[in-house]
Parts: sequence; C-alpha cells; structure tokens
Amino acid sequence: MIPIIPEASLQTKQDAASSGIKNPLPLSLYIHIPWCARKCPYCDFNSHEARQDMPEQQYVDALIADLEQATPNIWGRKIRSVFFGGGTPSLFSAESIDRILSQVRALTPMEYGAEITLEANPGTVDIAHFQGYREAGINRLSLGIQSFNPQHLQALGRIHDREQALEAAALAMQIFSRVNLDVMYALPKQTLDEALTDAKTACELAPSHLSFYHLTLEPNTPFHRTPPPLPDDDTSAEMQVKIEEMLAQHGYEHYETSAFCKPGQQARHNVNYWTFGDYLGIGAGAHSKLTYHDQITRETRPKHPKQYMQQALAGNAREQMWAIKTADLGFEFMMNALRLTDGFDPALFQMRTGLPWETISMRVAEASKLGLLEVSHGLVRPTLQGQRFLNDLLELFLN
Ligand SMILES: C[S@@+](CC[C@H](N)C(=O)[O-])C[C@H]1O[C@@H](n2cnc3c(N)ncnc32)[C@H](O)[C@@H]1O
Ligand code: SF4
Repeated sequence: MIPIIPEASLQTKQDAASSGIKNPLPLSLYIHIPWCARKCPYCDFNSHEARQDMPEQQYVDALIADLEQATPNIWGRKIRSVFFGGGTPSLFSAESIDRILSQVRALTPMEYGAEITLEANPGTVDIAHFQGYREAGINRLSLGIQSFNPQHLQALGRIHDREQALEAAALAMQIFSRVNLDVMYALPKQTLDEALTDAKTACELAPSHLSFYHLTLEPNTPFHRTPPPLPDDDTSAEMQVKIEEMLAQHGYEHYETSAFCKPGQQARHNVNYWTFGDYLGIGAGAHSKLTYHDQITRETRPKHPKQYMQQALAGNAREQMWAIKTADLGFEFMMNALRLTDGFDPALFQMRTGLPWETISMRVAEASKLGLLEVSHGLVRPTLQGQRFLNDLLELFLN
C-alpha cells in the first residue's frame, strides 16, 4: 500500500522527482457523475443505479465544494479541457451542468476555446437536453453507442435500442460540431460480419471521433461471474484488424490504441492524459495527477457517492494523496505515452517527469531489439507488434 503523506512533507520527500519538470504542465479537469439509469453487466466503472432518489442538487453542491478545496493546488493555471464522465452525466439536467461550469469559470481561468466534453447514453437524451448542454458550454459530446445491432444491445443489457442509438447520434451531430461515438467489439456471439457492420454504420454517420473498445471481462461484473459466449482470440484479432482498415478507408486516423479521428479532431482531454499532463479529478472516486512544488502527486476521492458528498460538504473531499516514486515514473509515463500510435519525443519524457532520458534509454533499446518499439525521426513509437502486445512492452519498464 502506498503511504499517505501530509502535504507539507511533499516538498522534502527524497523519493520523488524534484527537478527539470517543465511547469506549468497542461491542466485538465475531470468531473465524475456516478449514476446510470441501469448498470450494464460488463461495466466496472464507478457507477450506481439511479433510483428516484438521485441527489442531483446535493451532488452538484459537493462538486463545487470539492473544486473550491482543490483550487489552491492549481492556482493561476489555465484549464485546457473539461470532461464530464461517468456513469452517465446525461442523467443530470442542463441546469446542473450549467451551475457546475459557471463555478469552474468563476474559480479557475479557462483557456479560450477549451474543449468541454460530456458523456451521454442514447437512452437518456433528447433535443432539449442537447440544446441545454450546448448553452451551458458543452462543445463536444461523447455517446455510448456500443453496438447498432438489436440482439447485441440486448445482450449487453443496454437501456436503448438501435433506433435510439441512430437518432441520438444524428441529433448529437446536428447540435455539436465535435462528437465521439463509443463502440465495442468482440461482443457475445458476435460474428466478424456483424462487427464490421457496426463499424460501417459508425463510419457512415461520420462523427469527428470514434472509440472502438475490445469488450473485456472485468472482475466483479456479472459478465465475469457468468461469462457469455465470446468470439475466440483469432476472430477478435481479425475484427480489430478489419475495423482499423475500414476506419482508415473512411478517413479516420488511428492515433491511440482505441481512438480514431478525422484530421485534427483528437480528444484534447485524453491526449493530455496520454502525454502525462496534469489533471484534477473531482467527484466520487475521481483520481488526480498534479505537479506542484516540483513533485508529481496523485490524489483520490471517496468512491461511494454518499461518503463522497458527506466528506466534500464537510470540507474534506480528498481521501488520499501521495507522491509518485521516482522509480515508478518511467513505467507510469510509458503506460500513457505508448498508447499513442505516433509515439512521443524523448524531450517530453524529461519535461513531464523531470528525469533524464538515460533513466529509460536502455529499456527503450531492449524493446527496440525485441521489435516492440522503434525510434525514428526523433520519435519513440510502438511498432504494430508493440501495439498488439502493449502489456508485454510495458512490462519492460516495470521495476
Ligand atoms: C463511462 S462509459 C460512457 C458512456 C455511458 N455511460 C454509456 O455507456 O452510454 C465509457 C465507455 O467505456 C466502454 N466500456 C465500458 N465497459 C467496458 C468493457 N468492459 N470493455 C470494453 N469497453 C467498455 C464503453 O464503450 C463505454 O461507452
Ligand atoms: S457502460 Fe455506461 S451506462 Fe453502462 S453501467 Fe457503465 S457507465 Fe453506466
């Protein structure tokens, strides 16, 4: 277990990186909304079934209190992106989202043109909701589609059908210029053709961004306890290759393990995670990575909404805080940066971690010898093999 250290001692902690970090790092804000209309059987996100009694107003009060408590550690730094994630943030009214964003603007400087994304479930939205979100300041919408196939939607326990998915996507694109659709593949009993039909439908809708996730059986979910019949490894690998080909044919750049976009439409918020930027996470179970006093720290919030609200409203939103150990920084940086298809400039490693490139250069050389990494044109990037076997590649950077 990582020790919790008092804030004052962070400045003198021997074991953390202390120099060379190019501050201020880009800063993003993540806001967690921990409720869903119904819990999907494959999902291990921190989300709870919303019954009649979802305490929306009290939760908004808690988020604002949390933000007020957190601002001293990000003082004066501009926020470049905001992401409302969940759970299902689209369960909240436009008025609540407006109240939260008004406080964000009042308490922190926001970059001009900051990207502000909200995750929505096609079963919880209509035109009035979307318009209200846009008026509140949301300028990018991320829709959890998962599949357009009625049988697969049912097997996934989704609250929406194919028609609602198509309508929500069309509506989102009418109201927002930047839209992401989440789609999953390797679904129970899914054939290669069915996966490609989903990919084709997504491409023909032509959103600015697509995320394609391989369905994983997460521990502590009903799917993990009683696994449904899934495509075998060869079939799901073929799905991945063919989906990537189809997306490329439709003009989508594959820029991260699961992310594809039209030129220039990368998710700014997620790119900040993958380039090891800073982020403040508020809300139940949210995580933060913040660099200050030349230390790279992580923070957590209580996971359960009730406990989170109690603590945040009592002035005590943060649950744990610790400095990342110097020995762990190479792995932590790589775990994010190697998700980027184009890789990264070695100078970024030094700017974000404060450590010299030599800290990991031997391991980079070893990974290159194994055909998992390549260094060319001044960039370090995973090879196709490295992308497919990302976990093996990352293991080389573990201590
Ligand atoms: C927090 S959800 C966002 C949207 C919203 N809650 C919804 O589902 O409509 C983020 C995304 O993670 C993906 N996801 C969730 N559980 C997954 C799993 N077990 N395997 C692969 N992808 C998963 C889904 O594509 C989902 O849309
Ligand atoms: S996939 Fe989305 S809607 Fe389903 S339980 Fe997870 S967060 Fe909620």
